[in-house]
Amino acid sequence: MGKDLLEQLEKVKSLVRAHGGPRREVYLDLENSGLAFEEALAALQEAYRIYGNPSITHRPGWRALEVILEAEVGLMDLIGVSDGEIIFTHNGTEANNLAIMGFAKASRGRRKILVSQIEHLSIKFPAERLQENGFKLVEIPVDEEGFVDLDYLAGQVDGNTLMVSVAAVNHEIGTIQDLKAIAEVVRDKSPEAVIHTDACDALGRIPLDLEKAGVDMASFSGHKAFAPKGVGALYIREGIKIDPILHGQLSSQRLWPGAEDVPAIAGFAKALEILRRSFDECRYKMRRLRDLLINGLLGNIDGVMLNGPKGDRRAPDNANMSFLYCEGEALTVELSLRGVYVSSGSACTSRTLEPSHVLLAIGRPYEIAHGSILMKVSPMHEEEDIKYALEQIPEAVSRIRSISPKVMM
Ligand SMILES: Cc1ncc(COP(=O)(O)O)c(C=O)c1O
Repeated sequence: MGKDLLEQLEKVKSLVRAHGGPRREVYLDLENSGLAFEEALAALQEAYRIYGNPSITHRPGWRALEVILEAEVGLMDLIGVSDGEIIFTHNGTEANNLAIMGFAKASRGRRKILVSQIEHLSIKFPAERLQENGFKLVEIPVDEEGFVDLDYLAGQVDGNTLMVSVAAVNHEIGTIQDLKAIAEVVRDKSPEAVIHTDACDALGRIPLDLEKAGVDMASFSGHKAFAPKGVGALYIREGIKIDPILHGQLSSQRLWPGAEDVPAIAGFAKALEILRRSFDECRYKMRRLRDLLINGLLGNIDGVMLNGPKGDRRAPDNANMSFLYCEGEALTVELSLRGVYVSSGSACTSRTLEPSHVLLAIGRPYEIAHGSILMKVSPMHEEEDIKYALEQIPEAVSRIRSISPKVMM
């Protein structure tokens, strides 16, 4: 065993010990890892007793297949599609990679791929890999709230365009894109170009009617939709051809070989069922808590700004704030001592300490992008949680500012 590994383990243990015992704990880092509905966790536990392999023809196998088909029906219903198929992966990253790489692999002729400047890294990186392999990648710029520039998009789509990928909801700043308008622009210029949306942050937060919107493929992540981790999904419209990017033993998932995580899929199916029966209740609750959090911070701290759009054009769970003269990473640690867990800047890039590409793309200067934290609420949070966060965040910000060399306020 490596010395480095043991040292790292010791360090993390001492961090956990040092951060023990706050008065209350409020977990708002749902970007990095989501919270699940209790009923979905119970469904996952229950399904651990379903031991069959869904591609095998005996009773335990059929029972496992039943779980998967139920999840497929539930997801299609919630996203407003009636044809095509759902491929269950193990997370949203795999679904996005399958959409981008698998579709490009199956393509003959067209070589141009368009993605927005603010896509999740699980879209951005595969698209960049394709560029290294001879595809042409174009990044569509966004405005200061993160909405894609439709005129620029219209100018770029042509007979060489293979696919356009724009997230329905941006994971960092909560921008809700107009998918229908995007699809219309694309179809007008090139009816054969395929439209993919990363809907990981949209499922369970905004109404989705993908068939009506003209979307051909969409990716989902279980833990972003209040289900347990271990499951993601890709919707593929009838007639869209994708090549597998993984190879191995045939499973019930035509394009994703290997053992399915049937218990996680059962948990996902339960979360989808809950969302279908109480969708409005969930999103209005999130919206109320989100506004309490955002307005509470804007009203009580100097030098704070909201990143992304306001009101109905913003996802109901998302609060992304920048605090001037306050380094986001330091604030995350200070808040952890107080039992409030948030992510600094982009969750996905926080380990590299680079400012988020999303915040830079909407025009935030480097130091403001660096001083941002991302918080997400869920239907499982209560007003008391947000009130506790609102007590702790201003104190944490003034403490970090008091020790920051840049303080001028
Ligand atoms: C918009 C978006 N796409 C993709 C992903 C990746 O999903 P997963 O964490 O399930 O791999 C995330 C995760 O945070 C996301 O927010």
